This record gives sequence, C-alpha cells and structure tokens, in this order.
Amino acid sequence: MAKILMVSSEAAPFAKTGGLADVLGALPKALVEAGEEAAVVLPLYRHAAVLNPRPVYDRLQFAVGSRGFSANILEQVQGGVRYFFVRIPELYDRDAFYDEGGREYPDNHLRFAALCHAALGVARYLFNPDIIHGHDWQAGLLPVLLRDTFRYHPAYLGMKTVFTIHNLGYQGLFTARALADLGLPARLFRPDLLEFYGQISLLKGGLVYSDMLTTVSPRYAQEIQTPAFGFGMDGLLRARSSSLVGILNGADYGAWDPATDRNIPKNYDRTHLDGKRECKRALLAEAGLPSDRLERPLMGMVSRFAEQKGFDLLMHIPHELAAEDLSLVVLGSGDRRLEDFFRRFASAYPDRVAAKIGYDEGLAHRIEAGSDMFLMPSRYEPCGLNQMYSMRYGTLPVVHATGGLDDTVDADTGFKFRADDSHDLLACVRDALQVYGTPRWTEMMNAAMQRDFSWPVSAAEYIRLYRRL
Ligand code: ADP
Ligand code: GLC
Repeated sequence: MAKILMVSSEAAPFAKTGGLADVLGALPKALVEAGEEAAVVLPLYRHAAVLNPRPVYDRLQFAVGSRGFSANILEQVQGGVRYFFVRIPELYDRDAFYDEGGREYPDNHLRFAALCHAALGVARYLFNPDIIHGHDWQAGLLPVLLRDTFRYHPAYLGMKTVFTIHNLGYQGLFTARALADLGLPARLFRPDLLEFYGQISLLKGGLVYSDMLTTVSPRYAQEIQTPAFGFGMDGLLRARSSSLVGILNGADYGAWDPATDRNIPKNYDRTHLDGKRECKRALLAEAGLPSDRLERPLMGMVSRFAEQKGFDLLMHIPHELAAEDLSLVVLGSGDRRLEDFFRRFASAYPDRVAAKIGYDEGLAHRIEAGSDMFLMPSRYEPCGLNQMYSMRYGTLPVVHATGGLDDTVDADTGFKFRADDSHDLLACVRDALQVYGTPRWTEMMNAAMQRDFSWPVSAAEYIRLYRRL
C-alpha cells in the first residue's frame, strides 16, 4: 500500500470550474477502493462547498519569499479520502478562484505557491506520503521546493513526485520578478529550469523537477510532444518522454449515470429508454424550445467558453446550422465574445437555439440526458469528460478528433471530424443527422451506453506508476 498526497486547486464537489475538479473528486477515491491511501490538499475558497470540516492543524507557519503566512488546515473525509483545506483568508477568501471580471488575481503566484508550501506542511505533520502528486501549474512549485529549496530536509527525504498535466495551455506565467516574490534563487531563471521566454512558468517547474509526468490521455501525451500542441514546451516534453505517460481519465459513474442521476427528471438505462424521452421533453421545456421538436434531433453543449473548446468554429456557420433540421441547447460561460455570440444566436433563432450563459451543475446533467447528441469541437482536448458522460447517457458525441476525444469516441459510438475547420464540423453534424432516426442510431446508442470508462481501470495505471517509483 502506498500513501499518495495530491495537490490541486480544485476538487469536486468542493470547488469546481472544470474537469480537473471531477478528476480530483474521483481518482483518489478509486485509489482508496484499490487499497491505497489517498489525500488531497486544496485551498479553502470563500465559495468552497464544504460542510463542517474538522480543524486538524492550527497556524501552520511558513514564508513565501519575504511574506509570512499562517495557515489553518481543516479536514473533511469523503469516500475514504482525506481532503485537507488550507485556510489563508487573505489569499483565498475572495469572490472567485482565479480571476474576476476577466482579470487574473495579480498575486496568483503567491496564492498557489502558498498552497504548495502548505501541502508540504500537510506532508510533514499530517499525512507523511510516499508520493506527492501535483496537478496543473498551481502545483508546479511543489517539486521545485522538494528538489531544490528543501532538498536536504530530512522530513521529505525519499518522497517521490508525480505531476499531471491536465492542460498545457495554462502555464502559470509570471514576470521574472515573481521569482524573488516566491523566494526562489535567481539561478533558477534558466531556459532549462523555470524561465520561459523572459518570464517564469510554474508549470515548467512541475515538468522539469517531477520524477514522473502524466497527462490525461495517451493521444494528448503524444500531441504535446509536437510543436502544434506543445505551447512551446514540446522540446522539454520530448526530452522527458521516457518519464511521460498518458493515462486516460475515467468517468465518475457515481455522479454521471442516467440510472441513478438525481438531477434529471426521469432515470433510465439501456433497456428502459422511455426515461430519456421524458428527459428530452423536460429539457425542451426548460430551455424554452417548442415541444414539437421532441421527435427531431437536439444537440447539447456544456463547456467553459475558452479558445481551446473550438466554439468559434460555430461563429462562421450559425445560419447553416439553423437551416438544418436541428435544435441546440448551450450552457457555458467564459469568453465574452462567445457568450455574446450564443446570446445573439439564440435570439435570432428562438425556436431552434437556447443558450444559458452561466455555470449550472444540474442543467449540465439535464443537457446530457435530454439531448440526442453532444458537440465538442475542441481545438485541443487533453481528455474531455463530457463525451464520456454523453456516451453513458446515450447521447452521441460529435467531436473534433483530437486528444482524449479521439481516444474515446469511435465510429460505433459517435461522429468525428478531422480538420479543425467549420466546414468539416458542419459536414460531421450533417452525417450525424443522416443517421438520426435510423436503426443504426439505436445501435450506436446501445454501443455508447455500454462503453465503460470507469475509474478503476485508470486508477490501476496510476498505481502501477506509483509502484515503479
Ligand atoms: P475542461 O476541464 O477543459 O473544462 P472537461 O470536459 O474535462 O473540460 O470537464 C468539464 C466539466 O465541467 C464537466 O463536468 C462539465 O459538465 C463541467 N462544466 C463545464 N462548463 C459548465 C457549465 N457552464 N455549467 C456546469 N458544468 C459545466
Ligand atoms: C482539463 C482539460 C480536459 C480534461 C480535464 C481533466 O481541464 O481541458 O480535457 O478532461 O482537465 O483532466
């Protein structure tokens, strides 16, 4: 049995903006179910959904550069996993997790450096792990602290580090001066260490200093070693390719299964599909679309609106899409341009297009259940979870063949387009519409609903990796 301490800026259901949280809500639990011991360290944000956590450490003191911090650590156990919340009000008691009004908090480097320091405190006083497993740039400083700053510190001797890339597009970039703010020596300002085109990258800290690197699908592990997907880090990743593996995320069927989902109006499964029809009827009503669309195809989308997600491809073809025999339900928020586009699209075609701008967990489930197909035109997609959820809900994914989308969707379970291009997307939607209503569609739904992306398989791969270390 190994003891794994994960460090992340999000974990469901406590704090979530995207798939990272889903992973940190499910993978540790799967590790525990496989007999390992797992804990997670994350910030106690103002809007963290935490009930009565137990104080376990008062005034953990540490310095980040010239600033002293005192953290209280609180614990909540869920699914056998110990979640440690770091309470530092001046850093985390704010309206949002990362940014407000489209602007990143200017002290994000300190906020997440403090998370890493606090995690070392948890490692030392509360959990004593064999492996420290960081996720994304917010945890990038951890291996730097372990391998450089505290290299000879007896408390951490022998601890191994794993770092998972959920998204190479977020690099934790800060000005060169941030190095001093973080208390790191100027000698780390080198292109083979933390420097990245004149700035510092905390993501790079994770990539350079960790014992093993993982990313969230085999395909993405290949892609990020190429200039097209490497965001300038591809050379480094090629150099580390013998320590880099792609492990596909799982889907948490405890939360995402139409047979048990409490967010949807009627439960269903492969052998009782009438419930799905009820979900569609209710979704049309909730979205304000005409009920006579019940017999016609409905396409759902749920996403962060970020360039990564490829929705700008739709901006070139709204009228072509609206001319098809198709309705659309969209839920998302982020990029203003896309928010405005979807608002305008919905008001131009009120009988066909419904858009809700915002974040709504329940509606995300109802869109998965009530739609016939689910669109993910991502430019790049490290793994993507919604296409896996969609399959379980019998909602056929229509995806750009990239990263985890390409690894998880095949010709029996969905529709893929190859080029990152509006016309290919449109052609692919048309292919799907051709199949809709035929026996082949039912066959595909059946195949999709039987695909199993459950976590134990992925967790077993992580465990193999931990053992290797
Ligand atoms: P990413 O992590 O890049 O955002 P994923 O597909 O891995 O993409 O995960 C996205 C997760 O976030 C899914 O659980 C999805 O349902 C959820 N999600 C994204 N946008 C919204 C939204 N506007 N409202 C509710 N849930 C959302
Ligand atoms: C990132 C990626 C997404 C992945 C998620 C969880 O946010 O964009 O593809 O599924 O992390 O690993």
